Amino acid sequence: MELKGLTDEEFDSLYPIKMKKLSGTHWTPVDVARKAIQFLDTDGVEAVLDLGSGAGKFCLIAGSISKSKITGVEQRENLVQLSRKLAANHQLQNVNFIHDDLQNLDFGCYDAFYFFNAFEENINLTDKLDKDTSINLELYHTYIKLIREKFESLPAGTRIVTYCGDAREIPDCYRLVKSGNKGKLRYWEKEV
Ligand SMILES: C[S@@+](CC[C@H](N)C(=O)[O-])C[C@H]1O[C@@H](n2cnc3c(N)ncnc32)[C@H](O)[C@@H]1O
Repeated sequence: MELKGLTDEEFDSLYPIKMKKLSGTHWTPVDVARKAIQFLDTDGVEAVLDLGSGAGKFCLIAGSISKSKITGVEQRENLVQLSRKLAANHQLQNVNFIHDDLQNLDFGCYDAFYFFNAFEENINLTDKLDKDTSINLELYHTYIKLIREKFESLPAGTRIVTYCGDAREIPDCYRLVKSGNKGKLRYWEKEV
């Protein structure tokens, strides 16, 4: 089955029931994934990183559309295993998943980035991903600072797409190119 033409309902039915229930809140809608990868996948882009890849929805859809290498980094091992299984089932050889905290990755190894509000779980317990989630404001601010510094260090022309959230993680050296989906989907490019 080709993933790129699926509706949200069809895509989410690939997940076990528990993961399917989380989709409306935590996983990227199909139309957002399509729009995001179209913006990120410009000339010269070879490697795209999804920061906090969850159950792999963005990466799997992006990988079915793009020829670039799509990597997801995710801290929850069960989600990484599920994502890898789906990538294998659909023979997506350009998609891979790393089980790690995203702060350990060298952003310089990637050309473009997708970020769906991964740190929100530290400040908002609505529809928790699992029982371990708890409020940690300090951790939230630490992550925002860290990711801003990493984005700041990337070359001019680097593109990021953010979905939801207030884009606090985006440094001032990035220009908002456009936005969509009632302002929730934002397209950024580094200027200097
Ligand atoms: C809103 S979900 C987005 C999932 C996926 N990007 C998608 O769009 O379908 C955010 C994910 O980020 C993960 N996450 C949060 N903080 C992280 C960190 N420091 N390192 C790795 N993953 C993290 C969470 O476990 C969660 O699965």
